[in-house]
Amino acid sequence: MTTPSQSAVTDKPFNQETLISANNISANNISANAKTHKLLLINGVNLNLLGKREPEIYGHTTLADIEKNLVARAAKYGIELICIQSNHEGKLVDEIQHYGLLAESAAQVDAIIINPAAFTHTSVALRDALSATQKPFIEVHLSNVHARESFRQHSYFSDIAVGVICGLGHLGYQMALDYWLTHTYDMKLDS
Ligand code: DQA
Repeated sequence: MTTPSQSAVTDKPFNQETLISANNISANNISANAKTHKLLLINGVNLNLLGKREPEIYGHTTLADIEKNLVARAAKYGIELICIQSNHEGKLVDEIQHYGLLAESAAQVDAIIINPAAFTHTSVALRDALSATQKPFIEVHLSNVHARESFRQHSYFSDIAVGVICGLGHLGYQMALDYWLTHTYDMKLDS
């Protein structure tokens, strides 16, 4: 079963045509015959409420808008971005397994961007699922968790993340995406 945000993004599947046209408008060059390049964006509990939830902390931008912009930016460079959000820890573990070890190696995602939300501070299960994929990930938080309650200052993810971005609002997601575009796929970004 897909979440509303997931279906909003994946209803229109990324296809070879999109890959080719993205390559045509880009200075970068991925062969149309190459393995499909995939990144995974994971958002945890309560992030489906972005835009409505404490906007003074988390901003006014909705998750659907964040996902739409990132999917378009990734596609511009010929990369498929798969977006997952769930309020259920086990569902997120299932999705990480699905796009990681349970997929054929050519179908696995290359790297991950994750905002685990409150699971950041509680979830050994999600940490283990990410470790098991052996895929590099960047941890993103909209708010500066270090300037908030003390319980937010411990993360089960930061020590195994490639990097952590926090406090920069929704721009943090784009920075994480740009990092993977340049470091995983060697893209030269326009802007
Ligand atoms: C959050 C920070 C977490 O502490 C909190 O539980 C969230 C969102 C952020 O993006 O700032 O739900 O991950």
